[in-house]
Amino acid sequence: MRLLWTLLPLLPTVFSAPSNGSDSLLWGAYRPNLYFGLRPRIPQSLMTGLIWFGTQDYQSFPKARHACEQGDGLDGYTWTTYDAREGGVQILNDGQNNVRIITEFLKVPGGKHGGSWAARIKGEPLQSGRPSRTSLIFYAGMEGMGGLDMETTEDDNGIRGPVEFSGTSPDLDDFTLRIVDSPDNVAVTGGAYAEAFQDRIGKTHFGGFRVPLGDMWQAKEFIMQDVLKHAREVMAPYENLGTAPPDPSFVLQLSDDVLSGSNMYAVQKSFEGPFEFDIFFESKSANTKLTSATLDKGVPAMTASFDERFKTKFPVPKSPTQQSMYAFSEAITSNLIGGVGYFYGRSIVDSSFSYEWDEEESALDDEDDDRAKAKTGAKFTEPKALLTATPSRSFFPRGFYWDEGFHLLHIGEWDNDLSLEILKDWIGLIDEDGWVAREQILGEEARSKVPEQFQTQVPNYANPPTLAMAVTAYIRRLKAASAPSDSELGLDFGVGNAQVPLASPSSPGSLYLTDRERGLSFLRSIYKPLKRHYDWFRRTQRGQLKQYGRKARSRTEAYRWRGRSEQHVLTSGMDDYPRGPAHAGELHLDLISWMGFFSGTMREIAEFVGEEEDRAYFTEVETAIRGNIEDLHWNEDEQMYCDVGVNDDDESYHVCHKGYLSLFPFLLNLLPEDSPHLGAILDLLRDPAHLWSRYGLRSLSASHPEFGQGENYWKGPIWVQMNYLALRALHTKYAAREGPHQEQARKIYTELRQNVIDSEYQRTGYVWEQYDSTTGEGRRSHPFTGWTSLVTLSKNRNRSS
Ligand SMILES: *[C@@H]1O[C@H](CO)[C@@H](O)[C@H](O)[C@H]1NC(C)=O
Repeated sequence: MRLLWTLLPLLPTVFSAPSNGSDSLLWGAYRPNLYFGLRPRIPQSLMTGLIWFGTQDYQSFPKARHACEQGDGLDGYTWTTYDAREGGVQILNDGQNNVRIITEFLKVPGGKHGGSWAARIKGEPLQSGRPSRTSLIFYAGMEGMGGLDMETTEDDNGIRGPVEFSGTSPDLDDFTLRIVDSPDNVAVTGGAYAEAFQDRIGKTHFGGFRVPLGDMWQAKEFIMQDVLKHAREVMAPYENLGTAPPDPSFVLQLSDDVLSGSNMYAVQKSFEGPFEFDIFFESKSANTKLTSATLDKGVPAMTASFDERFKTKFPVPKSPTQQSMYAFSEAITSNLIGGVGYFYGRSIVDSSFSYEWDEEESALDDEDDDRAKAKTGAKFTEPKALLTATPSRSFFPRGFYWDEGFHLLHIGEWDNDLSLEILKDWIGLIDEDGWVAREQILGEEARSKVPEQFQTQVPNYANPPTLAMAVTAYIRRLKAASAPSDSELGLDFGVGNAQVPLASPSSPGSLYLTDRERGLSFLRSIYKPLKRHYDWFRRTQRGQLKQYGRKARSRTEAYRWRGRSEQHVLTSGMDDYPRGPAHAGELHLDLISWMGFFSGTMREIAEFVGEEEDRAYFTEVETAIRGNIEDLHWNEDEQMYCDVGVNDDDESYHVCHKGYLSLFPFLLNLLPEDSPHLGAILDLLRDPAHLWSRYGLRSLSASHPEFGQGENYWKGPIWVQMNYLALRALHTKYAAREGPHQEQARKIYTELRQNVIDSEYQRTGYVWEQYDSTTGEGRRSHPFTGWTSLVTLSKNRNRSS
């Protein structure tokens, strides 16, 4: 007993598991919905953000910038460098206010609480001839347990010199936050009534606020109200003079009041022309003093090492456009990773909702009666946490299931372990039944961006199971990392593993590749929930096989998306792609293909973790699915794969619309390389009258009567992630393996890689959600650097897999 007590102080170091590197992921630009918002990966903790507006007139103030809005009309905003463990550099071009703002973020490891960081906010006029007067407000608020205090002495007229705060919270422990001006900054000194405001000009203004729990995301409202209140007060004496009001630079200021018990503070600086100021977050346990020199040296070193690593990870061939290709690829990769957010909160689920065709009559028997009774309309769930990439910082700043599998393919190549942290959070969302909501709208901030009719998720509705792609990709990387390295052989057309550079112990974020035991235990930890998820798909999205005179070798494998409306199959991800009439008896080609792919993933992971019986079972299902794709979905007359519908005479028939849907068995590598149907698929894909365009594969045949019609979302435009799937299938299988169509596949692969869009970024400053197939012009949401970032893997010299 005594011995144990003397040993006790040693226990934590002796027995705690070795770190898996996740502490270096604690801080990040995890509020991607904001132009600049840092927070830790902790449910309720320190939230920070940046607001700015121009003070050249009074019109800019109501349009103050904070959350990314397309309506703000910024001329692009882009992380040009971003690494989740190091930090990043972002450029924001605000033409309306004639300012380019650069946000630099540098992580400084050390101590026991996720390290420290420094940020530099700087700006310069976009056009030198025009006025550029900018006011910036940085805020920090403590949510939940803990506190934040202002240490610098308050002054009713503002503060000269640094402003310092101290804080503490259960997870962050003690820390300080300090905001420091560059000596070269210039304040607006001239303008109407300047003499009356001499005491306040050139100072840092501030405010302290009491923000109720759960409202911290509304910090901007508190801040803007305070500025407005102050403005009204100081404007009052000038109101009836019949002269122009005082210059906005002197009026639009925080009140320099701190309420007692404040948990959120704002610090405001206003400048004429170029400016620069630094923010330092020092974790006390790290015991390091950050200064401007930290940023002066650290940021260039970070971008240089990012650049170097990028060129080894994603090399592109030498060509006249090589440099611009790198700049583009680095930016979209940085935006994808800089777009990773941390979300925490409740979502809304309605288990009572369904369409009349969602369930066939027979399924509504006794067993379901109980469930039906339990159905009570939309309800809040328990709060959940999620680290996730986001498709679009302005339009879709939240987690989307089917996008995420694609995101993780790209992220996993850059930082394997980061992709696993994200994957693990998603796996954690799989409920007892095996369901995951396809949109993760966690908390009020996320919800504020979603129209009400889309806020509620339905537990019978699926989305393409792309997490399976992320699992397969990880298994492939893990195998490659432990394979002998003599396999540079198949460079351009090798199969899978050969092209992955071996993870060296020194490359960041690769502990789960270099340590095989660690990798295995990760796969074991996700195996059960993933299987539950797979079983949920097989159970709830099953299609009817015994009816309508259908003949197929397997009596079980047929699938149908639930939750479609007459016009849309949102659950399929290809919202308005043409389908047959809604019917409980229809069968969907894309879903059975996804299930074939998912079965393959389950087979691989079962093999890896040694679940022999399961492996045999998944193999059986996979084979049955491949067979049934032929039996149920191939149309000999049309020479293509089709959906299946039910007509008025209760007969089964093929619903054939040439487009992405027709390619699915090929896209997901389900056809053997000597399939008698492969040639027809490749012809369809390469035909300019159908899917082929100069800018990539279009979603619907140009000859289809609905091409470009209606919402025109999935009726023609080019989607990068689907092109990526085609390139991947060609690269890993059809161009790589000997077969009757290998030559054709190689040729298409080479051409398609050239075509996949990259020029719109140079022209517009944005990466877009989709591209017009006649002009190549970007369309819809922007920036959209979710799966569009897969251009990087598509263009990569030795890896489009
Ligand atoms: C790494 O370790 C942390 C802390 O123990 C844990 O929360 C996280 O899930 C681990 N990551 C993975 C990928 O297993």
